[in-house]
Amino acid sequence: MENRHLLKDKEFLRRHILRLQDLNKPQDFQTLFSRPAPLVLDIGSGKGEFATTMATLFPNLNFLCIEKRPDRTLATAKRKLKNNLDNLFVFQGKIEHLIPHCFFRNSVHKAFMNFPDPWPKNAYRNRRNLNPEFLNEIYDLLETGGDFHFATDVKDYAEYAYSLLSQHPGFKNQNTAPWLTEVSSEYKTLFYHHAAKDGFSSHFLHFKSV
Ligand SMILES: C[S@@+](CC[C@H](N)C(=O)[O-])C[C@H]1O[C@@H](n2cnc3c(N)ncnc32)[C@H](O)[C@@H]1O
Repeated sequence: MENRHLLKDKEFLRRHILRLQDLNKPQDFQTLFSRPAPLVLDIGSGKGEFATTMATLFPNLNFLCIEKRPDRTLATAKRKLKNNLDNLFVFQGKIEHLIPHCFFRNSVHKAFMNFPDPWPKNAYRNRRNLNPEFLNEIYDLLETGGDFHFATDVKDYAEYAYSLLSQHPGFKNQNTAPWLTEVSSEYKTLFYHHAAKDGFSSHFLHFKSV
């Protein structure tokens, strides 16, 4: 990116962030990118560290970050522009507003849900993003053979995710155990590192849509 001072200009950065009103219902996401390629979702992408690393490592894939917090999507737009990533877009809004309206069935190659907000207290568990309805929506949007990756440092969320996924007839576990606790460095996101620093181990689930 030539004009580095533009990376400090919030108005400029905002023009690179998608919102619900910018999208068709449904939206052919491939038309956003400079060329068609398998689509990868990063759901709850935070400041976009993981997706920008992956988009750099895998230029033959298209990435869509989905993040509800405006400050975090600004940080992601900045990373996209700084790294000249034309294979990455960022959507600002809630995943539950995007998935049911905007995706064609079988249009997503991989979906990552890395360290979703854990809501550890019993009274707030119903606020967790992963639930049976949401999983059916993920199943509908994944292509056959598409991947769903889920990571958390909260053991009972990992157990819940595993029980939902392993009982769903459309998903097959890709690990020989319910989850892995060690993965290669590109899968270690910011919240993985926060958890590790606090002494919590992480759980990485990987299922395929069959
Ligand atoms: C704990 S952070 C994890 C960030 C990143 N995935 C990582 O692993 O470092 C969870 C992120 O999900 C976002 N989030 C929570 N609920 C969401 C929703 N309904 N739709 C989109 N993003 C959401 C939060 O704003 C937050 O940035």
